[in-house]
Amino acid sequence: MAEQKQQDTASALKDIISHAKEYGFVFPSSEIYDGLQAVYDYGQNGVELKNNLKTLWWKAMTMLNDNVVGIDASIFMHPLTWKASGHVDSFNDPMIDNKDSKKRYRADQLLEARAEQYEAEGTPEKGKALLQEMAKFLDAGELDGIRQLIIDENIKCPISGTLNWTEVRQFNLMFSTQVGAVSEDASLIYLRPETAQGIFVNFLNVQKSGRMKIPFGIAQIGKAFRNEIVARNFIFRMREFEQMEMQFFVRPGTEMEWYNNWKETRLKFHKAIGLPAENLKFHDHEKLAHYANAAVDIEYKFPFGFKEMEGIHSRTDFDLGAHQTLSKKKQQYFDPELDENGKPYGNYVPFVVETSVGADRLFLAILCNAYTNETTGEGENLKERTFLKFHPAVAPIKAAVLPLVKKDGLAEKAQDIFHSLKRSFNTTYDDGGAIGKRYTRQDLIGTPFCIAVDYQTMEDETVTIRHRDSMEQERVHISELREKIGNAVSMERVFEQL
Ligand code: GAP
Repeated sequence: MAEQKQQDTASALKDIISHAKEYGFVFPSSEIYDGLQAVYDYGQNGVELKNNLKTLWWKAMTMLNDNVVGIDASIFMHPLTWKASGHVDSFNDPMIDNKDSKKRYRADQLLEARAEQYEAEGTPEKGKALLQEMAKFLDAGELDGIRQLIIDENIKCPISGTLNWTEVRQFNLMFSTQVGAVSEDASLIYLRPETAQGIFVNFLNVQKSGRMKIPFGIAQIGKAFRNEIVARNFIFRMREFEQMEMQFFVRPGTEMEWYNNWKETRLKFHKAIGLPAENLKFHDHEKLAHYANAAVDIEYKFPFGFKEMEGIHSRTDFDLGAHQTLSKKKQQYFDPELDENGKPYGNYVPFVVETSVGADRLFLAILCNAYTNETTGEGENLKERTFLKFHPAVAPIKAAVLPLVKKDGLAEKAQDIFHSLKRSFNTTYDDGGAIGKRYTRQDLIGTPFCIAVDYQTMEDETVTIRHRDSMEQERVHISELREKIGNAVSMERVFEQL
């Protein structure tokens, strides 16, 4: 029986980070210059995995829902967009510096860590009271109060060990730059901190050009940028990342029904792509943002604990309403359907239910879940192996064709098979080294199927398929490969569960 080791600690994340780098999934950005903090690049296997996740999300949204369509808006938007959305005035995090170590922290995170410590020590009521006090000060904009809480709680800088703190300042997370060639004429412009606003400002364009009827949704995948004060946990919190967002426009008063609906639909998606139910949970927001009347996170159990992977928000008519006011252009929908009194609902600003998942966080969850260390056998036969147990539909490479030896026509035969399969799904060819080593190479990048070409193949046109997780082998005819493997790796297997 294979035994799989469980690692829940920070060391598990370290192992995953080095595995991701060594096997071409994620590299630190511009590494030859010692990297750029909180920015990462996806390698040859990482980009395939990420593209599969994005395609699954995109198709689950736009292909499986006949009332959801997609767009691709620009990263740059008119600066008033961010005034209307509230980002210019309130997309801030409170920061504090330690004067001795010169290190910068998020003041709220220092207090949250203390609250977690109280919980771990068995005095959660103290933690709760602390968080309430913090929320009170933040709401009132009393940053001195936040600083005082840090001092009263005796929270020292982990580097210098001192309480020598600066005052707390609000720090806007948006990156800004300038458009225009002549500096006097140039105007301030932002890199979008969320993709959602590109959807809101196109609400009427899509509704009219697509003759969409409420309820309907607009989906988008794209880059977003936030100047995070403290970026940590690998690709969990980055300064440049990718979001997959969908705004669902509904009749006012029906938003809670749709909110509950989308909560369940999105949870089902995560399970269907292979994340285990016990590692997923809902976390309701106690304190709601000014624009929301309900909000929940889908959390995944990362090696550093249960943390937000996706947010589902009932955003009321806040965004469309704010754009209507600032642009002075009506953002209304004419609803011809009749209410219970037989009157048309008429014109209104729709309410919105949003689903928003970070492509990178989903990638990290899938990678953490797939990373497996397994021990088989006993005594002298004890063997350890590391492999990535991806759902076949998300695996970067679906099949590897491996001739047992290069001579006697086996390599040519294997090449023929490789060239015929690669038109149907991502296939690779490898003839270097012992076959066991080649299986291991594929295990390490999570290839679900290895096809071995041996002497018997030359006689009867059969090959073995070696299955990644069980390591079992089965003999099949070459003519069966495309259908058998194609079926197992097809995204349809995921969609069937939605
Ligand atoms: N439009 C709503 C919105 O942007 P959010 O909770 O700020 O809401 C949504 O972000 C999702 O985007 C998060 O659940 C997370 O998956 C992802 N995300 C946010 N900030 C991120 C960061 N700095 N790095 C990676 N992913 C991030």
